[in-house]
Amino acid sequence: MSADAPLPFQDDPRVAQAIALLDQVVADAGRDLNDVRAADPTKVDAYRARLEEFARLRAGALYYPYLATGRGHGPYVELADGSVKLDFINGIGVHGFGHAHRAMRHCGIRAAICDTVMQGNLQQADASVDLCRRLVELARRSGAAIEHVAISTSGAMSNENALKLAFHARPGRNRLLAFERCFAGRTLVLSQLTDKAAFRVNLPTDVPIDYLPFCDASDVAGSTERTLAAMRRHVGRYPNRHAAIWFELVQGEGGYNVGERSYLHAICAEARKLGIPIVFDEVQTFGRTTRPFAFQHFGLDEYAELVTVGKITQACATLFSAAFAPGPGLISQTFTAGTWELLAAIEVLDRMAAGNLFGPEGSNARLHARFAAGLERIAERTSGAIRGPWGIGGMIALTPLEGRADQAKRLAELCFDEGLMGFVAGAEPTRLRFLPPLLAIDDAMIDRALELLERAVGRLVAEFPR
Ligand SMILES: Cc1ncc(COP(=O)(O)O)c(C=O)c1O
Repeated sequence: MSADAPLPFQDDPRVAQAIALLDQVVADAGRDLNDVRAADPTKVDAYRARLEEFARLRAGALYYPYLATGRGHGPYVELADGSVKLDFINGIGVHGFGHAHRAMRHCGIRAAICDTVMQGNLQQADASVDLCRRLVELARRSGAAIEHVAISTSGAMSNENALKLAFHARPGRNRLLAFERCFAGRTLVLSQLTDKAAFRVNLPTDVPIDYLPFCDASDVAGSTERTLAAMRRHVGRYPNRHAAIWFELVQGEGGYNVGERSYLHAICAEARKLGIPIVFDEVQTFGRTTRPFAFQHFGLDEYAELVTVGKITQACATLFSAAFAPGPGLISQTFTAGTWELLAAIEVLDRMAAGNLFGPEGSNARLHARFAAGLERIAERTSGAIRGPWGIGGMIALTPLEGRADQAKRLAELCFDEGLMGFVAGAEPTRLRFLPPLLAIDDAMIDRALELLERAVGRLVAEFPR
Protein backbone atom coordinates (compact mmCIF):
# COMPACT_ATOMS: atom_id res chain seq x y z
CA MET A 1 0.00 0.00 0.00
CA SER A 2 1.48 3.22 -1.09
CA ALA A 3 -0.32 6.35 0.12
CA ASP A 4 2.40 8.69 1.35
CA ALA A 5 0.71 9.76 4.56
CA PRO A 6 0.44 6.99 7.17
CA LEU A 7 -2.89 5.18 7.10
CA PRO A 8 -4.73 4.42 10.31
CA PHE A 9 -3.22 1.45 12.17
CA GLN A 10 -0.58 1.18 9.46
CA ASP A 11 1.98 -0.38 11.76
CA ASP A 12 -0.36 -2.44 13.90
CA PRO A 13 0.75 -6.04 13.37
CA ARG A 14 -2.83 -7.27 13.78
CA VAL A 15 -3.77 -5.49 10.55
CA ALA A 16 -0.96 -7.23 8.69
CA GLN A 17 -2.11 -10.55 10.17
CA ALA A 18 -5.72 -9.91 9.18
CA ILE A 19 -4.66 -9.02 5.65
CA ALA A 20 -2.56 -12.17 5.38
CA LEU A 21 -5.51 -14.29 6.52
CA LEU A 22 -7.89 -12.63 4.07
CA ASP A 23 -5.36 -13.09 1.28
CA GLN A 24 -5.33 -16.78 2.08
CA VAL A 25 -9.14 -16.96 1.96
CA VAL A 26 -9.27 -15.24 -1.42
CA ALA A 27 -6.37 -17.25 -2.85
CA ASP A 28 -8.09 -20.50 -1.83
CA ALA A 29 -11.34 -19.31 -3.35
CA GLY A 30 -9.74 -18.33 -6.64
CA ARG A 31 -7.45 -21.30 -7.07
CA ASP A 32 -9.68 -23.10 -9.56
CA LEU A 33 -10.51 -19.98 -11.59
CA ASN A 34 -7.90 -20.37 -14.30
CA ASP A 35 -10.03 -20.93 -17.36
CA VAL A 36 -13.52 -20.37 -18.66
CA ARG A 37 -16.28 -22.68 -17.49
CA ALA A 38 -19.88 -23.31 -18.53
CA ALA A 39 -22.77 -22.61 -16.16
CA ASP A 40 -23.77 -25.18 -13.56
CA PRO A 41 -27.12 -26.58 -14.81
CA THR A 42 -28.44 -26.81 -11.23
CA LYS A 43 -28.00 -23.03 -10.82
CA VAL A 44 -29.36 -21.85 -14.14
CA ASP A 45 -33.05 -21.49 -13.21
CA ALA A 46 -32.44 -19.57 -10.00
CA TYR A 47 -29.94 -17.37 -11.83
CA ARG A 48 -32.42 -16.57 -14.57
CA ALA A 49 -35.05 -15.69 -11.96
CA ARG A 50 -32.66 -13.27 -10.26
CA LEU A 51 -31.80 -11.65 -13.57
CA GLU A 52 -35.49 -11.25 -14.34
CA GLU A 53 -36.12 -9.68 -10.94
CA PHE A 54 -33.24 -7.30 -11.53
CA ALA A 55 -34.52 -6.41 -14.99
CA ARG A 56 -37.90 -5.54 -13.45
CA LEU A 57 -36.31 -3.48 -10.68
CA ARG A 58 -34.07 -1.47 -13.01
CA ALA A 59 -36.60 -1.28 -15.85
CA GLY A 60 -34.42 -3.11 -18.36
CA ALA A 61 -32.30 -6.21 -18.72
CA LEU A 62 -28.53 -6.08 -18.24
CA TYR A 63 -26.54 -6.11 -21.48
CA TYR A 64 -24.99 -9.40 -20.40
CA PRO A 65 -26.51 -11.89 -17.95
CA TYR A 66 -23.68 -11.03 -15.56
CA LEU A 67 -24.13 -11.25 -11.80
CA ALA A 68 -20.79 -11.99 -10.14
CA THR A 69 -20.25 -14.09 -7.03
CA GLY A 70 -17.30 -12.00 -5.87
CA ARG A 71 -14.81 -14.74 -6.70
CA GLY A 72 -12.26 -14.02 -9.36
CA HIS A 73 -8.67 -14.52 -10.39
CA GLY A 74 -6.79 -12.26 -12.80
CA PRO A 75 -8.95 -11.81 -15.90
CA TYR A 76 -11.26 -14.64 -14.83
CA VAL A 77 -14.52 -13.93 -13.02
CA GLU A 78 -17.07 -16.32 -11.61
CA LEU A 79 -20.74 -15.61 -12.21
CA ALA A 80 -23.53 -16.70 -9.90
CA ASP A 81 -24.68 -19.39 -12.36
CA GLY A 82 -21.32 -21.09 -11.75
CA SER A 83 -19.86 -20.06 -15.11
CA VAL A 84 -16.40 -18.50 -15.39
CA LYS A 85 -15.71 -15.80 -17.98
CA LEU A 86 -12.47 -14.43 -19.37
CA ASP A 87 -13.13 -10.74 -18.83
CA PHE A 88 -11.55 -8.64 -21.55
CA ILE A 89 -13.84 -5.67 -21.08
CA ASN A 90 -13.57 -5.12 -17.31
CA GLY A 91 -16.61 -2.97 -16.73
CA ILE A 92 -15.55 -1.02 -19.87
CA GLY A 93 -11.98 -0.43 -18.83
CA VAL A 94 -12.30 -0.10 -15.08
CA HIS A 95 -10.57 -3.13 -13.58
CA GLY A 96 -6.96 -2.65 -14.59
CA PHE A 97 -5.91 -5.37 -12.17
CA GLY A 98 -8.63 -7.74 -13.34
CA HIS A 99 -10.52 -9.57 -10.60
CA ALA A 100 -9.74 -10.18 -6.92
CA HIS A 101 -6.25 -8.71 -7.17
CA ARG A 102 -4.47 -8.51 -3.84
CA ALA A 103 -3.32 -4.91 -4.38
CA MET A 104 -6.90 -3.71 -4.78
CA ARG A 105 -8.06 -5.86 -1.86
CA HIS A 106 -5.40 -4.39 0.40
CA CYS A 107 -6.64 -0.91 -0.46
CA GLY A 108 -10.16 -2.03 0.45
CA ILE A 109 -9.09 -3.47 3.78
CA ARG A 110 -7.08 -0.38 4.64
CA ALA A 111 -10.01 1.79 3.63
CA ALA A 112 -12.41 -0.32 5.69
CA ILE A 113 -10.59 0.60 8.89
CA CYS A 114 -10.61 4.29 8.09
CA ASP A 115 -13.38 6.16 9.85
CA THR A 116 -15.75 6.94 6.98
CA VAL A 117 -16.72 5.35 3.69
CA MET A 118 -16.91 8.56 1.68
CA GLN A 119 -14.80 11.67 1.20
CA GLY A 120 -16.31 14.95 0.06
CA ASN A 121 -16.47 18.71 0.12
CA LEU A 122 -16.20 19.25 3.90
CA GLN A 123 -13.88 16.37 4.67
CA GLN A 124 -11.00 14.76 2.88
CA ALA A 125 -8.70 11.91 3.76
CA ASP A 126 -4.98 12.56 3.88
CA ALA A 127 -4.68 10.29 0.86
CA SER A 128 -6.59 12.81 -1.30
CA VAL A 129 -3.51 15.03 -1.22
CA ASP A 130 -1.34 12.15 -2.41
CA LEU A 131 -3.67 11.35 -5.28
CA CYS A 132 -3.90 14.97 -6.45
CA ARG A 133 -0.13 15.39 -6.28
CA ARG A 134 0.46 12.23 -8.29
CA LEU A 135 -2.01 13.24 -10.99
CA VAL A 136 -0.53 16.72 -11.34
CA GLU A 137 3.06 15.44 -11.43
CA LEU A 138 2.17 12.80 -13.97
CA ALA A 139 0.34 15.27 -16.21
CA ARG A 140 3.23 17.78 -16.05
CA ARG A 141 5.90 15.19 -16.78
CA SER A 142 6.62 16.37 -20.31
CA GLY A 143 5.67 19.98 -20.01
CA ALA A 144 1.89 20.35 -19.65
CA ALA A 145 0.85 23.35 -17.57
CA ILE A 146 -1.60 21.38 -15.40
CA GLU A 147 -1.64 22.66 -11.82
CA HIS A 148 -4.90 21.63 -10.20
CA VAL A 149 -7.21 18.64 -9.71
CA ALA A 150 -10.85 18.15 -8.77
CA ILE A 151 -11.53 14.57 -7.71
CA SER A 152 -14.91 13.28 -8.72
CA THR A 153 -17.24 10.30 -8.63
CA SER A 154 -17.54 9.38 -12.30
CA GLY A 155 -16.15 10.11 -15.72
CA ALA A 156 -19.32 12.05 -16.48
CA MET A 157 -18.98 14.19 -13.38
CA SER A 158 -15.34 14.94 -14.24
CA ASN A 159 -16.41 15.96 -17.73
CA GLU A 160 -19.25 18.04 -16.35
CA ASN A 161 -16.74 19.83 -14.11
CA ALA A 162 -14.40 20.41 -17.07
CA LEU A 163 -17.26 22.00 -18.98
CA LYS A 164 -18.16 24.21 -16.05
CA LEU A 165 -14.55 25.38 -15.82
CA ALA A 166 -14.47 26.12 -19.55
CA PHE A 167 -17.75 28.06 -19.57
CA HIS A 168 -16.71 29.88 -16.40
CA ALA A 169 -13.46 30.98 -18.00
CA ARG A 170 -15.19 32.23 -21.16
CA PRO A 171 -18.13 34.33 -19.99
CA GLY A 172 -20.84 34.88 -22.59
CA ARG A 173 -20.01 31.78 -24.62
CA ASN A 174 -22.64 29.09 -24.88
CA ARG A 175 -21.58 26.70 -27.68
CA LEU A 176 -19.17 23.77 -27.90
CA LEU A 177 -17.13 22.21 -30.67
CA ALA A 178 -16.93 18.43 -30.67
CA PHE A 179 -16.19 15.59 -33.06
CA GLU A 180 -18.61 13.35 -34.87
CA ARG A 181 -19.06 10.03 -33.04
CA CYS A 182 -17.81 11.44 -29.74
CA PHE A 183 -19.00 10.15 -26.39
CA ALA A 184 -18.64 12.17 -23.20
CA GLY A 185 -21.06 10.66 -20.69
CA ARG A 186 -24.71 10.74 -19.73
CA THR A 187 -25.50 13.87 -17.75
CA LEU A 188 -27.99 16.25 -19.33
CA VAL A 189 -25.29 18.40 -20.96
CA LEU A 190 -23.06 15.47 -21.89
CA SER A 191 -26.01 13.77 -23.57
CA GLN A 192 -26.15 16.81 -25.82
CA LEU A 193 -22.42 16.77 -26.45
CA THR A 194 -22.30 13.03 -27.19
CA ASP A 195 -22.94 12.50 -30.89
CA LYS A 196 -25.69 9.96 -30.51
CA ALA A 197 -29.31 11.02 -30.95
CA ALA A 198 -30.60 7.83 -29.29
CA PHE A 199 -28.99 8.92 -26.00
CA ARG A 200 -30.95 12.19 -25.79
CA VAL A 201 -34.46 11.24 -26.82
CA ASN A 202 -36.86 13.87 -25.39
CA LEU A 203 -34.05 15.63 -23.54
CA PRO A 204 -33.43 19.36 -23.90
CA THR A 205 -30.72 20.48 -26.31
CA ASP A 206 -30.01 23.90 -24.92
CA VAL A 207 -26.22 23.84 -25.34
CA PRO A 208 -25.61 23.98 -29.09
CA ILE A 209 -22.88 21.65 -30.32
CA ASP A 210 -21.05 22.16 -33.61
CA TYR A 211 -19.60 18.87 -34.86
CA LEU A 212 -16.38 18.41 -36.76
CA PRO A 213 -15.37 15.35 -38.77
CA PHE A 214 -12.82 13.26 -36.86
CA CYS A 215 -9.47 12.21 -38.25
CA ASP A 216 -9.63 9.86 -41.23
CA ALA A 217 -6.52 7.69 -40.99
CA SER A 218 -6.68 6.87 -44.70
CA ASP A 219 -6.42 10.56 -45.65
CA VAL A 220 -4.80 12.49 -42.83
CA ALA A 221 -3.89 15.59 -44.85
CA GLY A 222 -7.32 15.81 -46.47
CA SER A 223 -9.12 15.20 -43.23
CA THR A 224 -7.05 17.84 -41.46
CA GLU A 225 -8.10 20.35 -44.10
CA ARG A 226 -11.75 19.33 -43.88
CA THR A 227 -11.81 19.57 -40.09
CA LEU A 228 -10.05 22.95 -40.09
CA ALA A 229 -12.48 24.23 -42.70
CA ALA A 230 -15.47 23.03 -40.68
CA MET A 231 -14.04 24.61 -37.56
CA ARG A 232 -13.52 27.94 -39.29
CA ARG A 233 -17.03 27.79 -40.70
CA HIS A 234 -18.58 27.19 -37.27
CA VAL A 235 -16.46 29.84 -35.60
CA GLY A 236 -17.11 32.28 -38.44
CA ARG A 237 -20.84 31.77 -38.05
CA TYR A 238 -20.69 32.11 -34.25
CA PRO A 239 -17.63 34.21 -33.42
CA ASN A 240 -16.51 34.10 -29.77
CA ARG A 241 -19.33 31.73 -28.83
CA HIS A 242 -17.43 28.45 -28.36
CA ALA A 243 -16.44 27.75 -24.76
CA ALA A 244 -14.47 24.58 -25.55
CA ILE A 245 -13.43 22.06 -28.14
CA TRP A 246 -13.91 18.53 -26.86
CA PHE A 247 -11.39 15.84 -27.80
CA GLU A 248 -11.24 12.11 -27.35
CA LEU A 249 -7.78 11.59 -28.85
CA VAL A 250 -8.77 7.98 -29.45
CA GLN A 251 -12.52 7.72 -29.79
CA GLY A 252 -13.84 5.07 -27.43
CA GLU A 253 -17.57 4.52 -27.75
CA GLY A 254 -17.26 5.89 -31.30
CA GLY A 255 -15.41 2.74 -32.43
CA TYR A 256 -11.71 3.03 -31.45
CA ASN A 257 -10.83 5.59 -34.08
CA VAL A 258 -7.30 6.81 -33.41
CA GLY A 259 -6.35 10.43 -33.95
CA GLU A 260 -3.19 11.06 -35.92
CA ARG A 261 -0.43 13.23 -34.49
CA SER A 262 -0.22 15.90 -37.22
CA TYR A 263 -4.01 16.11 -37.45
CA LEU A 264 -4.41 16.57 -33.70
CA HIS A 265 -1.64 19.17 -33.58
CA ALA A 266 -3.21 21.17 -36.40
CA ILE A 267 -6.66 21.23 -34.79
CA CYS A 268 -5.30 22.08 -31.34
CA ALA A 269 -3.14 24.87 -32.78
CA GLU A 270 -6.17 26.36 -34.52
CA ALA A 271 -8.27 26.16 -31.36
CA ARG A 272 -5.52 27.86 -29.39
CA LYS A 273 -5.26 30.58 -32.05
CA LEU A 274 -9.01 31.12 -31.83
CA GLY A 275 -8.93 31.26 -28.01
CA ILE A 276 -11.10 28.18 -27.62
CA PRO A 277 -10.27 26.12 -24.51
CA ILE A 278 -9.19 22.55 -25.25
CA VAL A 279 -10.55 19.58 -23.30
CA PHE A 280 -8.89 16.17 -23.53
CA ASP A 281 -11.36 13.56 -22.32
CA GLU A 282 -9.06 10.74 -21.20
CA VAL A 283 -11.67 8.80 -19.27
CA GLN A 284 -11.14 5.78 -21.52
CA THR A 285 -7.64 6.41 -22.91
CA PHE A 286 -5.76 7.06 -19.67
CA GLY A 287 -3.09 4.40 -19.12
CA ARG A 288 -3.74 2.62 -22.41
CA THR A 289 -1.34 4.20 -24.93
CA THR A 290 2.48 4.36 -24.79
CA ARG A 291 2.33 7.10 -22.15
CA PRO A 292 0.12 7.54 -19.08
CA PHE A 293 -1.93 10.23 -20.84
CA ALA A 294 -2.86 9.95 -24.50
CA PHE A 295 -2.07 13.67 -24.88
CA GLN A 296 1.50 12.74 -23.94
CA HIS A 297 1.50 9.89 -26.45
CA PHE A 298 0.57 12.36 -29.20
CA GLY A 299 2.97 15.06 -27.92
CA LEU A 300 0.14 17.50 -27.22
CA ASP A 301 1.44 18.62 -23.82
CA GLU A 302 1.46 22.31 -24.73
CA TYR A 303 -2.31 22.11 -25.33
CA ALA A 304 -3.27 20.23 -22.16
CA GLU A 305 -5.29 22.69 -20.08
CA LEU A 306 -8.45 20.74 -19.17
CA VAL A 307 -8.02 16.98 -18.92
CA THR A 308 -10.35 14.38 -17.45
CA VAL A 309 -9.57 10.85 -16.28
CA GLY A 310 -11.66 7.98 -14.96
CA LYS A 311 -12.36 4.27 -15.30
CA ILE A 312 -8.96 2.59 -14.72
CA THR A 313 -8.00 5.34 -12.26
CA GLN A 314 -10.81 4.16 -9.94
CA ALA A 315 -11.33 7.69 -8.64
CA CYS A 316 -12.16 10.14 -11.44
CA ALA A 317 -10.72 13.62 -11.82
CA THR A 318 -10.62 16.88 -13.76
CA LEU A 319 -7.11 18.30 -14.16
CA PHE A 320 -6.72 21.93 -15.11
CA SER A 321 -4.25 24.76 -15.59
CA ALA A 322 -4.16 27.92 -13.48
CA ALA A 323 -6.17 29.81 -16.10
CA PHE A 324 -9.21 27.66 -15.29
CA ALA A 325 -9.05 27.83 -11.49
CA PRO A 326 -12.70 28.20 -10.43
CA GLY A 327 -14.39 30.78 -8.26
CA PRO A 328 -15.71 29.50 -4.94
CA GLY A 329 -18.70 27.18 -5.16
CA LEU A 330 -18.38 26.37 -8.85
CA ILE A 331 -17.19 22.84 -8.20
CA SER A 332 -18.10 21.02 -5.03
CA GLN A 333 -19.47 17.59 -4.25
CA THR A 334 -20.78 15.80 -1.16
CA PHE A 335 -19.11 12.67 -2.54
CA THR A 336 -15.79 13.11 -4.33
CA ALA A 337 -14.60 9.52 -3.95
CA GLY A 338 -14.90 6.64 -1.53
CA THR A 339 -11.87 6.00 0.66
CA TRP A 340 -11.22 2.66 -1.08
CA GLU A 341 -11.31 4.40 -4.47
CA LEU A 342 -8.77 6.98 -3.35
CA LEU A 343 -6.34 4.35 -2.13
CA ALA A 344 -6.98 2.22 -5.20
CA ALA A 345 -6.32 5.20 -7.49
CA ILE A 346 -2.97 5.80 -5.83
CA GLU A 347 -2.11 2.12 -6.14
CA VAL A 348 -3.01 2.05 -9.84
CA LEU A 349 -0.86 5.12 -10.57
CA ASP A 350 2.07 3.73 -8.61
CA ARG A 351 1.85 0.32 -10.29
CA MET A 352 1.69 2.01 -13.67
CA ALA A 353 4.75 4.08 -12.81
CA ALA A 354 6.70 1.08 -11.52
CA GLY A 355 5.60 -1.31 -14.26
CA ASN A 356 6.52 -1.69 -17.87
CA LEU A 357 3.29 -0.52 -19.52
CA PHE A 358 4.61 2.42 -21.46
CA GLY A 359 7.06 3.19 -24.25
CA PRO A 360 7.19 1.72 -27.75
CA GLU A 361 8.26 -1.65 -26.29
CA GLY A 362 6.02 -1.47 -23.23
CA SER A 363 3.41 -4.07 -22.34
CA ASN A 364 0.56 -1.96 -23.79
CA ALA A 365 2.24 -1.91 -27.19
CA ARG A 366 3.14 -5.61 -26.99
CA LEU A 367 -0.39 -6.53 -25.95
CA HIS A 368 -1.72 -4.69 -28.98
CA ALA A 369 0.77 -6.29 -31.35
CA ARG A 370 0.04 -9.82 -30.10
CA PHE A 371 -3.71 -9.28 -30.23
CA ALA A 372 -3.48 -7.71 -33.68
CA ALA A 373 -1.40 -10.61 -35.04
CA GLY A 374 -3.99 -13.02 -33.63
CA LEU A 375 -6.83 -11.08 -35.26
CA GLU A 376 -5.01 -11.24 -38.58
CA ARG A 377 -4.70 -15.01 -38.28
CA ILE A 378 -8.43 -15.30 -37.52
CA ALA A 379 -9.21 -13.05 -40.50
CA GLU A 380 -7.13 -15.31 -42.77
CA ARG A 381 -8.70 -18.51 -41.49
CA THR A 382 -12.24 -17.14 -41.82
CA SER A 383 -11.76 -15.59 -45.29
CA GLY A 384 -11.92 -12.06 -43.96
CA ALA A 385 -14.89 -12.44 -41.61
CA ILE A 386 -13.29 -9.85 -39.35
CA ARG A 387 -11.31 -6.71 -40.13
CA GLY A 388 -9.04 -4.52 -38.07
CA PRO A 389 -7.54 -4.03 -35.64
CA TRP A 390 -8.66 -0.58 -34.59
CA GLY A 391 -7.51 1.18 -31.45
CA ILE A 392 -4.12 1.51 -29.86
CA GLY A 393 -2.25 -0.17 -26.99
CA GLY A 394 -4.76 -1.52 -24.50
CA MET A 395 -7.77 -0.57 -26.67
CA ILE A 396 -8.43 -3.15 -29.37
CA ALA A 397 -11.38 -3.46 -31.74
CA LEU A 398 -12.36 -5.46 -34.80
CA THR A 399 -15.14 -5.10 -37.33
CA PRO A 400 -17.11 -8.32 -37.86
CA LEU A 401 -18.54 -9.08 -41.33
CA GLU A 402 -20.10 -5.92 -42.79
CA GLY A 403 -19.96 -4.06 -39.48
CA ARG A 404 -23.71 -4.07 -39.02
CA ALA A 405 -24.95 -3.41 -35.49
CA ASP A 406 -26.79 -6.75 -35.33
CA GLN A 407 -23.64 -8.61 -36.42
CA ALA A 408 -21.39 -6.95 -33.84
CA LYS A 409 -23.96 -7.46 -31.09
CA ARG A 410 -24.35 -11.10 -32.05
CA LEU A 411 -20.58 -11.59 -32.00
CA ALA A 412 -20.45 -10.09 -28.49
CA GLU A 413 -23.15 -12.57 -27.41
CA LEU A 414 -21.39 -15.51 -29.02
CA CYS A 415 -18.12 -14.52 -27.36
CA PHE A 416 -19.91 -14.34 -24.01
CA ASP A 417 -21.35 -17.77 -24.65
CA GLU A 418 -17.85 -19.08 -25.40
CA GLY A 419 -16.63 -17.45 -22.18
CA LEU A 420 -14.99 -14.26 -23.50
CA MET A 421 -16.24 -10.79 -22.62
CA GLY A 422 -15.88 -7.83 -24.98
CA PHE A 423 -18.35 -5.11 -25.91
CA VAL A 424 -19.59 -3.29 -28.99
CA ALA A 425 -18.49 0.21 -30.02
CA GLY A 426 -19.34 2.58 -32.84
CA ALA A 427 -22.02 2.73 -35.48
CA GLU A 428 -21.69 2.19 -39.22
CA PRO A 429 -19.53 0.24 -38.70
CA THR A 430 -20.23 -1.26 -35.30
CA ARG A 431 -17.20 -3.02 -33.85
CA LEU A 432 -16.37 -5.43 -31.09
CA ARG A 433 -13.80 -4.03 -28.67
CA PHE A 434 -11.67 -5.28 -25.85
CA LEU A 435 -10.18 -3.51 -22.82
CA PRO A 436 -7.99 -6.18 -21.21
CA PRO A 437 -6.78 -5.76 -17.61
CA LEU A 438 -3.50 -3.99 -18.31
CA LEU A 439 -1.96 -4.60 -14.92
CA ALA A 440 -2.71 -8.33 -14.80
CA ILE A 441 -2.29 -9.59 -18.35
CA ASP A 442 0.05 -12.15 -19.87
CA ASP A 443 0.51 -13.69 -23.31
CA ALA A 444 -1.30 -16.91 -22.39
CA MET A 445 -4.43 -14.93 -21.52
CA ILE A 446 -4.34 -13.07 -24.83
CA ASP A 447 -3.92 -16.34 -26.70
CA ARG A 448 -6.84 -17.87 -24.81
CA ALA A 449 -9.00 -14.86 -25.66
CA LEU A 450 -8.10 -15.26 -29.33
CA GLU A 451 -9.05 -18.95 -29.26
CA LEU A 452 -12.45 -18.15 -27.80
CA LEU A 453 -12.93 -15.28 -30.23
CA GLU A 454 -12.13 -17.51 -33.17
CA ARG A 455 -14.78 -20.01 -32.10
CA ALA A 456 -17.31 -17.22 -31.77
CA VAL A 457 -16.41 -15.81 -35.20
CA GLY A 458 -16.87 -19.31 -36.66
CA ARG A 459 -20.38 -19.44 -35.22
CA LEU A 460 -21.12 -15.90 -36.46
CA VAL A 461 -20.12 -16.82 -40.00
CA ALA A 462 -22.46 -19.82 -39.85
CA GLU A 463 -25.32 -17.56 -38.74
CA PHE A 464 -24.63 -14.86 -41.36
CA PRO A 465 -23.55 -16.79 -44.47
CA ARG A 466 -21.84 -14.58 -47.05
C1 LIG B 1 -14.41 9.00 -23.27
C2 LIG B 1 -15.41 8.86 -22.16
N1 LIG B 1 -15.79 9.93 -21.47
C3 LIG B 1 -16.66 9.84 -20.48
C4 LIG B 1 -17.23 8.65 -20.11
C5 LIG B 1 -18.23 8.59 -19.00
O1 LIG B 1 -17.69 8.00 -17.86
P1 LIG B 1 -18.67 7.42 -16.74
O2 LIG B 1 -19.42 6.30 -17.36
O3 LIG B 1 -17.75 7.00 -15.63
O4 LIG B 1 -19.56 8.52 -16.32
C6 LIG B 1 -16.86 7.48 -20.79
C7 LIG B 1 -17.47 6.20 -20.44
O5 LIG B 1 -17.50 5.26 -21.21
C8 LIG B 1 -15.94 7.59 -21.85
O6 LIG B 1 -15.55 6.53 -22.56
